[in-house]
Amino acid sequence: MNISTERFGKTKYNEEVIKYSLKNDKGCYVSILNYGGTITEIVVPDKEGILENVVLGLNTIQAYEEQSPYFGSLVGRMAGRISHAQFKIDDNTYSLAKNNNGHNLHGGIQGFDKVIWDAEGSVNENEATLSLHYISEDGEEGFPGNLDVIVRYTFNNSNTLLISYEAITDKKTLVNLTNHSYFNLSGNYKRDILDHVLTIYANEFGCINNEVVPTGIKRVKDTPFDFTKSKRVGEAIDSDDEQIRYGGGYDHPFLLDTNACYAAILEDNESGRRLEIETDQKSVVFYSGNFIDNEMTLIGGKKGENRLGLCLETQYYPDAVNQECFDTYILKPEGVYTAFTKYSFKTN
Ligand code: GAL
Repeated sequence: MNISTERFGKTKYNEEVIKYSLKNDKGCYVSILNYGGTITEIVVPDKEGILENVVLGLNTIQAYEEQSPYFGSLVGRMAGRISHAQFKIDDNTYSLAKNNNGHNLHGGIQGFDKVIWDAEGSVNENEATLSLHYISEDGEEGFPGNLDVIVRYTFNNSNTLLISYEAITDKKTLVNLTNHSYFNLSGNYKRDILDHVLTIYANEFGCINNEVVPTGIKRVKDTPFDFTKSKRVGEAIDSDDEQIRYGGGYDHPFLLDTNACYAAILEDNESGRRLEIETDQKSVVFYSGNFIDNEMTLIGGKKGENRLGLCLETQYYPDAVNQECFDTYILKPEGVYTAFTKYSFKTN
């Protein structure tokens, strides 16, 4: 195992951006920027042993700053939307930065995906870890409390990437962290994701309105949202269903079954690649890459296009603080927020 570093450029604020590549003994690697904890590449084998990239990534820091729809981002303080960019804890009302139709999306204008994290690598025989640290100040984007966050990316010789999150605060606050990688298992995005086969271990999903704000809970049975048995992603993605129309495809939280071993499994039959996802989180937001700008040039020269990648954002329920249907999670000064997600890359 080893970690190599490379200069990736400078942000518009003149901050140095470094790319860290965590490489295992088989030559597979995960590359991560100290900018937004962004995963730029995950290179793993297909069934023939050919190593290719399975996440959407960009070539320059400028492209990440100006064009990226959260490609590979570490998202926080709050993943998803906080409706009307407002919430209450005890008797205090907090107003947040509005960056999406009057709502707060993925932490706001300058969320965790757009800041520089302190980074430190460590390696042992079987795994390489990049530890990222960031202190989000009281009032940043409107959130209360100084939030001290550590995120660790660990890649090992079995092609497993573990992301673990930890945070503490000095005032009651909200926190919900995730990673926003757009997976495409075909390898170097040869094909879109409509023929990928997906299983999500969820019997219920969160409905949304036409601004992608949660409105309630429904059973997946007999709906396009039933992925309890593996199904082609494209099978019902354009069906005449109100929920599909509101999302422009899938853009919904799935409420994970508590007794399942996995949150989700994604497969691409042609390449034989399989991604198994495990987490301790309550939900996974399945976003089928419905708005991917075709002006963007991806690593390798291909242009962006809708549905070229899909996100499986493991997290706490979105907008829980404002939604009756979900229990609210508040981090208190005496508590510690922890979460993990494990991505295992295999071949069939
Ligand atoms: C997703 C979100 C989508 C869209 C996307 C970024 O996580 O649910 O509605 O905003 O991020 O383009």
